Amino acid sequence: MVAWRSAMLQSLLFESSLSLYVHIEISNDNVKHCDGSDEHCGICINSILPDDILEQVLGHLPFATIVKACSVCKKWNDMVHSAGFMQSLSNISSQKPWYFMFTRDNDADGHVYDPMLSKWYKFEIPCVGSPGWRLVSSSGLVCFMDDVCRRKLYVCNPITRHCRKLVELHDAEFSDYCALAISMNRSLLSYTVSVVKSKQAPGEEVNWDLSIHLYSSRNRMWVSSLHVTLQAWRGGVDSVICGGFLYFVVHLTRILGYIRPRFGVLAYDMAQQSPDLSVDEQVILAPCPVCCMRLLNLEEELVMVAGIEKQGKPGVIRGIGIWVLRGKEWEEVSRMPNNFFHGFGEFDDVFGCSGFDKLIYIQSYGSPALLMFDMKSKEWKWARKCPAVKKSALHLFSGVCFEPRLDSVP
Ligand SMILES: *[C@@H]1O[C@H](CO)[C@@H](O)[C@H](O)[C@H]1NC(C)=O
Ligand SMILES: *[C@@H]1O[C@H](CO)[C@@H](O)[C@H](O)[C@H]1NC(C)=O
Repeated sequence: MVAWRSAMLQSLLFESSLSLYVHIEISNDNVKHCDGSDEHCGICINSILPDDILEQVLGHLPFATIVKACSVCKKWNDMVHSAGFMQSLSNISSQKPWYFMFTRDNDADGHVYDPMLSKWYKFEIPCVGSPGWRLVSSSGLVCFMDDVCRRKLYVCNPITRHCRKLVELHDAEFSDYCALAISMNRSLLSYTVSVVKSKQAPGEEVNWDLSIHLYSSRNRMWVSSLHVTLQAWRGGVDSVICGGFLYFVVHLTRILGYIRPRFGVLAYDMAQQSPDLSVDEQVILAPCPVCCMRLLNLEEELVMVAGIEKQGKPGVIRGIGIWVLRGKEWEEVSRMPNNFFHGFGEFDDVFGCSGFDKLIYIQSYGSPALLMFDMKSKEWKWARKCPAVKKSALHLFSGVCFEPRLDSVP
C-alpha cells in the first residue's frame, strides 16, 4: 500500500503552472486515457488497484493534488466528481484551509495559498469587484459584499467557480458600519448570511441604530430583520455565526463613570424571534484594552484574535492575542511571540484575520506577509513568501481563508 501510494504520488506530482480551476471541468478531449497500453503511463494503477482503495488513496492526497489527479485520466476525473468520493472526502479529509489574498491594488486578482504543499497559485474569485470588498467564508463557500452601496451580495465556491448573486438587501439606508457573516450547515446543506448595519441615531451622539438582517439559502431571500437602538454602543465591522448565535463586535461610545475595555461582543440568538439586546448586561467585554477585534468560528467555538493596546496609548498596538469564549469569559489561548509580531514590519492597529478548523491566518494590511497559528499544536509559522509585490505605500493587502471543497454549492 505504501509503495503504491508513493508510485502514485510520483505520477501525480508533475510540475506545471496550471491554473487550478481549469482542470476541474476538463473536457474528455484533453484527457489521456490510461488503459494500461499507453507507454507514457508507466505502471497503470487502475488495472491493479480496486476502486475503493484507489478512492481512499486519492482522498488522502492534498486537495491541489486531487484536482490535478482529475487530469490524469477520465476514470480518476469521474471518481473525484462522484458524490460518493466527495462524501468520503469530507469524512477522511485532513485538508487545511487555503488563504486567498488580493495581490494587486487596482483589480480583484489575487493568489491563493495552499498550506499542505506550501504553494501559492494565481487565483481569482469570480464576481468580486475590487480588493475593497469584504469577504467571509464558511465550509467551502465565500460570501462577499460590495464596498459602496453594500447591497450587492454574492456567495461563491471559489474552487468550482459557481457563483450566486443574492437578492438585494432592501434596507437601503446608508450605514456607517457594516458586518457580514455566512454559516453553512452541512447536514442541512443550507446556509445563512447575516448583515449587521450600524448608523448614528438622529440627534444623539452616543446612541446608534443597529439592524440585523438574515438571509436563508432555503428560501432564497432575506427572512428576518431586527432594528434596535444601542445606548452608548455602536456596531463594528466584524461578526461571525457560531453555534446558532450571531456574534458581532460593538464599540463603547461613552465612558460610563469608570474606565473599561472599549470593545465587546454581543450575541444574537438566531432561533429566537424577539431577542432582547439590552446591551449593558449582555455585552461580553474584551479581556483587556484592545484596538482591533476579529471573530472566528473554529469548530463551532467562538475565537477572538485581538490587537492588544499599549497602556495609555489608545489605538497603538503592542501585540496580538488569541482567546476562546467559555461561557461569558475569554480564555487565553496564545500570544503572538514578539519576533513574529516584529516580522511583519510595521503593524497597523487594524489587521486581517480569518480561520477554519484549527488554523488561523493573520496578515497586516501593509504587506503580503502571512502568519499561521495552529490551535491544536499552538505553533506559530510563516506561510511561504507570497509572490505579490507592494507597488506603493498605499497598496494594501487583504484576504480570506476558505476550505477547498468541490461539493459546496452556493
Ligand atoms: C461519513 O461519516 C458519517 C459519520 O461520521 C457516516 O455516517 C457516513 O456513513 C460516512 N460516509 C462515508 C461515505 O464514509
Ligand atoms: C445544523 O442544523 C441542525 C438542525 O437544525 C442543527 O441541529 C445543527 O446544530 C446545525 N449545525 C450547525 C453547525 O449549526
